[in-house]
Amino acid sequence: MRHLLQRVLQQDRTFYWKRLSNLRACTQGVRLRTCTTIYSSKVDQCCYPVTVSQHCLNYREFHSTSKCLPSSLHSSKSTNSSIARLRPYCTNVTTRHEDGELLRDTLDNISVLEAVSYWTAEFETAGVPEPDASAEYIAAHVLGYKSFSLISPLVQNLTAEERTRMSELCQKRMKRMPIQYILGEWDFRDLNLIMRPPVFIPRPETEELVEHLWMYIQEDLTRQEDELAILEVGCGSGAISLSLLQEFPQAHCTAVDMTKEAVELTQHNAERLGLSGRLDVKQMQFNTSADFETKFDVIVSNPPYIWTQDMETLEREVAGYENYCALHGGTDGMGVIRDIIHTGHRLLKPGGSIWLEVDPRHPDMIQTYLHNHLQYQLHLTGVYQDFNNRPRFCCLELRE
Ligand SMILES: C[S@@+](CC[C@H](N)C(=O)[O-])C[C@H]1O[C@@H](n2cnc3c(N)ncnc32)[C@H](O)[C@@H]1O
Repeated sequence: MRHLLQRVLQQDRTFYWKRLSNLRACTQGVRLRTCTTIYSSKVDQCCYPVTVSQHCLNYREFHSTSKCLPSSLHSSKSTNSSIARLRPYCTNVTTRHEDGELLRDTLDNISVLEAVSYWTAEFETAGVPEPDASAEYIAAHVLGYKSFSLISPLVQNLTAEERTRMSELCQKRMKRMPIQYILGEWDFRDLNLIMRPPVFIPRPETEELVEHLWMYIQEDLTRQEDELAILEVGCGSGAISLSLLQEFPQAHCTAVDMTKEAVELTQHNAERLGLSGRLDVKQMQFNTSADFETKFDVIVSNPPYIWTQDMETLEREVAGYENYCALHGGTDGMGVIRDIIHTGHRLLKPGGSIWLEVDPRHPDMIQTYLHNHLQYQLHLTGVYQDFNNRPRFCCLELRE
């Protein structure tokens, strides 16, 4: 009975968490990345999730403060970007210098909407992905808002400093810097994390990985009371470890990464969030000889898993800014995955599990690999799909 109740509560929580994300994105400005994101994988990168509802909200906000728009723009059913629709009305931004410095130098009176419209057009012309979302994120950031939908009123003029700042940040976007690096922060589940190149930017799929692992731990009542020892391989900004530490007060995480930048950023994020007391961060190249003083209940990893052949297809945002070693997983993307599986038997406590985010081709390959290496005593007991219905998350359990 207790178990059944637990399960119902869990389902409720997942539902609640996703709904909450949705609601927040529309009402409080927290970015939505669980339900309606357009970012999908490490190969088809594009991480500027802005929902249609946000656009509609922007539109309605703008409309309620503006007297000059024709009635055709009244419809709140519009699914187009508010900015794109308003562009014809932003008439005083018509020309620019070649270096794109028009906003800074010559326009004294430019509203938030006009600035966003201007930069959206610039991004579109330059082929920058997600042009309107990029401009909106930057405008919101410059004005000190969490999201564009919160800026009120949108017709307010930018100050000279705001114009300059917006121009500087938009120039970075023109060079295809990911928006997360430009803003210097990004939300992962309930956490706000500092982002710094070249440390890997956490993806929305990884939020799902943490949610699956959360449910798994919740189901095991014994683990809820006992200390929970977690190892994360390849911690990047610390997103997974810090989320788990926040969720589970009984957890202690060891987070390793081969790069100094990632280790420093994880430590920095942990201290900012007050979670460093239960976290050990180590710079090390995880391989088959990796050894630790303790054994773990859970090993979790979002390892580099892109196949060599797919590295060519990466967006400029990814290939140009994020660490190569955070992405490339070897010829078949399984390099670090195999090392984790190989060491699992030695590093896990009896009954422990490994949780991996992988390429959709990997679950079958992992199954075959385990079948050919029965000595590891690991069993693929769960494969879960991401929000695009692709098999993305694997649970491997150690069974004697
Ligand atoms: C895809 S990123 C994931 C980062 C973070 N966990 C996240 O989900 O946002 C992979 C990380 O693994 C690290 N890495 C790659 N190979 C590694 C290895 N053999 N040992 C330790 N870290 C490794 C990279 O530096 C990178 O930070």
